Amino acid sequence: MSEIYLDNSSTTKPYLDVTRKVVQMLSEVYGNPSSIHRLGKESKVELDKARQIIADSLQVEPDEIYFTSGGTESDNLAIKGACLANSNYGNRIVTTVAEHPAVMKTIRDL
Ligand SMILES: Cc1ncc(COP(=O)(O)O)c(C=O)c1O
Repeated sequence: MSEIYLDNSSTTKPYLDVTRKVVQMLSEVYGNPSSIHRLGKESKVELDKARQIIADSLQVEPDEIYFTSGGTESDNLAIKGACLANSNYGNRIVTTVAEHPAVMKTIRDL
C-alpha cells in the first residue's frame, strides 16, 4: 500500500537538491559566517549567495531577507516588528483562534 503524506502545511519534504546542499554545507562549510577564519569566510560567501538568490526570486533587496531558526522566531520577529513599526496607528491586533500558539502567545505578550 502506498502512503500519501498530507501534513505539508506542518513540514514538507525538501527537494533532493536542497537536502544535498544542506548536507554539503553542514559537512564542508560549517563555519560561523561572523568568524574571520577561512571556514567562517567561506560560510559567509555561501550565506550571501543564498540571500541574493532568495532576494532575486522575491524581487526584494538582500538586506530585506532575514534568516531565522524556525517558525516561532519568525512569528515573533514579524509580529513584534510590524507592531513596533506601526505603533502610531493604534494598539489593537485582530487575529483568530485558529492561529498557531506561537502567533497567539506573541500577540498576547504585546
Ligand atoms: C505559524 C507557525 N508558527 C510556529 C510554528 C512552530 O515552528 P518552530 O517549531 O520552527 O518554532 C509553526 C509550526 O508548524 C507554525 O505553523
